[in-house]
Amino acid sequence: MLEMGEHATSSAPRRRWDLLSKAFEELKTGCSTSEKQPDTLRIVNNAATTRRFHGFGLFSREDVVIDGEQWIRVTSRKDFAIEGYAATAYSAGEEHAGSDTVGTSSGSFELFLRKEAAVCLTDLTGFDNTGNICIWPAEEVMAFWCLGNPSLFRGKRICELGGGMASLGGNVIACTMPAEMLLLTDGNEKCCANCEAAIAQNRKRQTYSCENVSSRRLRWDVTEDYRCLAITFDVVIAADCVFKAEYHEALCRCIRHILKNDGIAIIFAPKRGNTLTDFVTRAKEYFEVLVSDRYSEDVFSLHEAQKTKSPEYSENLNYPLQVKLRIK
Ligand SMILES: C[S@@+](CC[C@H](N)C(=O)[O-])C[C@H]1O[C@@H](n2cnc3c(N)ncnc32)[C@H](O)[C@@H]1O
Repeated sequence: MLEMGEHATSSAPRRRWDLLSKAFEELKTGCSTSEKQPDTLRIVNNAATTRRFHGFGLFSREDVVIDGEQWIRVTSRKDFAIEGYAATAYSAGEEHAGSDTVGTSSGSFELFLRKEAAVCLTDLTGFDNTGNICIWPAEEVMAFWCLGNPSLFRGKRICELGGGMASLGGNVIACTMPAEMLLLTDGNEKCCANCEAAIAQNRKRQTYSCENVSSRRLRWDVTEDYRCLAITFDVVIAADCVFKAEYHEALCRCIRHILKNDGIAIIFAPKRGNTLTDFVTRAKEYFEVLVSDRYSEDVFSLHEAQKTKSPEYSENLNYPLQVKLRIK
């Protein structure tokens, strides 16, 4: 099955055509897609794609109806001991050693997100639509990792780039840590509208620990979008945002501009062919770069288990690596 970043094979044109036919059939009847179907058809940048792996299950989610609208209530999973997770992560060494103590984050939270809206014909003509398709595994893993590393975010100014439909990572930080401020951004207007709605809903339900949470459109390749920001950030986070080589330079320049001199950018992304490696090569022109494939023992164990038991799991497409950037 074809996913973002997967190379076409000899049967790919036929498959792509079949998928597109199915897509247009669905589009004729309105919109498509159900999150539950394992081979659900997705549309990404006018290319047919399927998404077969639906994430590591690091959070619980339940469908709820609020004021007649479909929402998802995301909570921490009771069977994941985030405190224990934090302890494991820190004992792995590196800069975490001593930076936090077990028990600083209970890991328990409640977050409301708009249910994934189906992909519509009008979406296909707009700017990159990948953020409206689903919450990608890299975002889920990033949110989980953030939960276990509260000292990085407490009292800090944080910006999420390319947060997609939910900015799950940024929103989980907003729910669990008293950050000074969180700016949740994406280049796609529909993603920003969904995020705006989520911020309003979570404010209303008082789920946020951080009082200053906002959202705006920010395209990395539109310099005015970030040059107009009056502040710089201690931490920049982003998930699954390096799959297009044409944006690597723009993304690096954007991060370089919005990051404080002593700040850190933390990016989670799967390899997706050469795309992550190419991004790292580009990023080294601007930053000190640290790449890790073993940033969480819990996620690593789940990854190992998926490799052996799930034929639909692809390490190349689904297992996110962590890239840390610091200004040189
Ligand atoms: C694969 S999605 C990942 C979304 C989300 N982080 C996740 O993992 O669920 C890539 C995101 O990057 C955004 N994006 C792509 N190119 C961009 C650009 N030049 N400027 C800003 N955002 C961009 C898209 O709108 C999309 O939401």
